[in-house]
Amino acid sequence: MKRIVFLISGNGTNLQAIIDKCKTGDINANIVSVVSNNPDAFGIERAKSEGIETKVINHKNFKNRDLFDNELFKYIEEVNPDLIVLAGFMRILTPKITDSYFGKIINIHPSLLPKYPGLNTHSKVIENKDSSHGVSIHYVSNELDAGPLIAQATIKTKDKEAIEDLIERVHAAEHKIFPKVIKLICDDQIVLNSEKVIFHDLKTNGVHIDEYY
Ligand code: GRF
Repeated sequence: MKRIVFLISGNGTNLQAIIDKCKTGDINANIVSVVSNNPDAFGIERAKSEGIETKVINHKNFKNRDLFDNELFKYIEEVNPDLIVLAGFMRILTPKITDSYFGKIINIHPSLLPKYPGLNTHSKVIENKDSSHGVSIHYVSNELDAGPLIAQATIKTKDKEAIEDLIERVHAAEHKIFPKVIKLICDDQIVLNSEKVIFHDLKTNGVHIDEYY
């Protein structure tokens, strides 16, 4: 059974979606720890109430990014995960972590990458009147939101849709596609081979999963 560590900063609805699938046995993995840089992250409460180990490493207690990452790296080494999942983790990791764990860290990002890396993706979609929006799941590299893509879920935007509604629909898509990807990784059906994502599942062979919601 794969050992997963989650890194979060906030609400943790994606974390919850994965916890639920681990509990039913749909995902063959054990969430061994949930780490947050934000002591007030509600995701920490979710993990505690599921009996999952939690760790707060508050970035504000460190003078710079390197010192914060050293502490985080030390903790991750102790926990010794097979997979590190970034789910709403609002810190940029340094190469110390991204290089050491390349191929073992994935991130979920609320846009159709390479469009809109970084923050405020939903308002950018609205401002630019994009006809579609969505979610990307990718391996984490040294470049922000730019590592090898694993999967995308697309949603159609609606005319004059309120940003809150758009965000809610993106979240709903995340909660569907993220568990699917994590299941495949935990079953060794998706691996990163140098820079190329390999799908062992025939249905997804050769292309990244691209779903429409
Ligand atoms: C998600 O939209 C994810 O794509 C982004 O941060 C948000 C986290 O939401 N990286 P939650 O904390 O899982 O509810």
